[in-house]
Amino acid sequence: MPIYSINSIIGTPLKTLYLKGKNLLFRIILNFVAAIMNESILLSKTGFDMEKIRADFPLLSRSVNGAALVYFDSGATAQKPQSVIDALDHYYKYQNANIHRGVHTLSQDATTAYEAARATIQKHINAAHAHEIIFTRGTTDSINLVASSFGKKFISKGDEIIVSAMEHHSNILPWQQLCEEKEAILKVIPINEAGELLMDEYKKLLSGKTKMVAITHISNTLGTINPINEIIKLAHAKNIPVLVDGAQAVAHTSVDVQAMDADFYVFSGHKLFGPTGVGILYGKEKWLNAMPTYQVGGGTIKTVTFEKTEYADLPLKFEAGTPHIEGGIGLAAAIDYVNAIGLKNIAAYEHELLLYVTAALEKIEGVKIIGTAKEKASVISFVVAGLHPFDVGTILDQLGIAVRTGHHCTQPLMNFYCVPGTIRVSLAFYNTKAEIDLFIKGLERAIKMLR
Ligand SMILES: Cc1ncc(COP(=O)(O)O)c(C=O)c1O
Repeated sequence: MPIYSINSIIGTPLKTLYLKGKNLLFRIILNFVAAIMNESILLSKTGFDMEKIRADFPLLSRSVNGAALVYFDSGATAQKPQSVIDALDHYYKYQNANIHRGVHTLSQDATTAYEAARATIQKHINAAHAHEIIFTRGTTDSINLVASSFGKKFISKGDEIIVSAMEHHSNILPWQQLCEEKEAILKVIPINEAGELLMDEYKKLLSGKTKMVAITHISNTLGTINPINEIIKLAHAKNIPVLVDGAQAVAHTSVDVQAMDADFYVFSGHKLFGPTGVGILYGKEKWLNAMPTYQVGGGTIKTVTFEKTEYADLPLKFEAGTPHIEGGIGLAAAIDYVNAIGLKNIAAYEHELLLYVTAALEKIEGVKIIGTAKEKASVISFVVAGLHPFDVGTILDQLGIAVRTGHHCTQPLMNFYCVPGTIRVSLAFYNTKAEIDLFIKGLERAIKMLR
């Protein structure tokens, strides 16, 4: 049920006309009119039915410290729509059973729902095969899996792995540890003051020694949208695989892993309006087949004797133990919800919010925005001269405004900007300009109090 579909507004009369239309040209014209009207309704400022959207997220209506909650921390974790909560509720009330090995009806129902969720995720990121979708615990778990398994087989002494200066610790530490174990070398793509990758430096780093490029799609601290297609193309020209950390991207932009030609693409369910504790590793079949098992145990095998074990094919080879069944099902429900709104519409609306909050912040004396890349998602970090981010965040919380303060698991980036931390506003499509106004007022008040 597309929430903003033309159907809900003029769909029925158009459909009637369509059905009555006898010739093809008439039908084509009607389709064209519907598409244009749909687009303009969706993208116009009034077309984003905020009341309806916000009502879909029960938590947004609670108050915090006596004020209506303003939730600007979706980059850390996104709130959940009722449809996701319902999917979890439904699972526990009607489907709860362990999957894959049960002959009884309940187990088969749960298996069907879980595998349907895998197919939804496959379709959502346009993976070629459902078995290229591995369920994990989240982005961190997915990266650890690749670093460990790929590293075991393909990394040797003297090899190089490239990350960037804006990576989340989760996309640094697994590679750093691997390099320590294998005596390999971690190379870092530098950035400019705006928070953009220095692509010429990246090109220089790529060499015959490079065995992996692990790079974030969107920076969780700066909001920078990296030129991921170009990054992958340059690496592939030298036969180097690329892992893309999509933790911050999946909630803001559509992802087509085949079009971008990513070798690995990882993300977490909870940042995509789904449950915590579930995430995705997409990997090209050829890599996943070539990689050794990571964790092993129940679910990962074909046959076991004390002498030898034959391991399962993809995807089960990488899914040891009872998985987060309801998490996978809930993630698929979240994807259905997001797709009903449309990621193009979400990106357009969030861009409006980004421009609005940026302009407002720039007017406040002493505020410095950290991360001013040309291509940005709705993540805005800033510092206030003479004030500690933590103090500002604490006062904002007293006003019911949830922002994140600190290093955002990007300490090397904080060192680059010579700041102890930043205040980060990360917006989702359920946020509004009215909330931004409240936040700006709150920030001005906090600055007055602390100065
Ligand atoms: C860019 C990026 N990578 C990785 C992670 C780690 O995600 P998770 O904690 O869900 O594993 C985050 C979380 O904030 C992130 O923003």
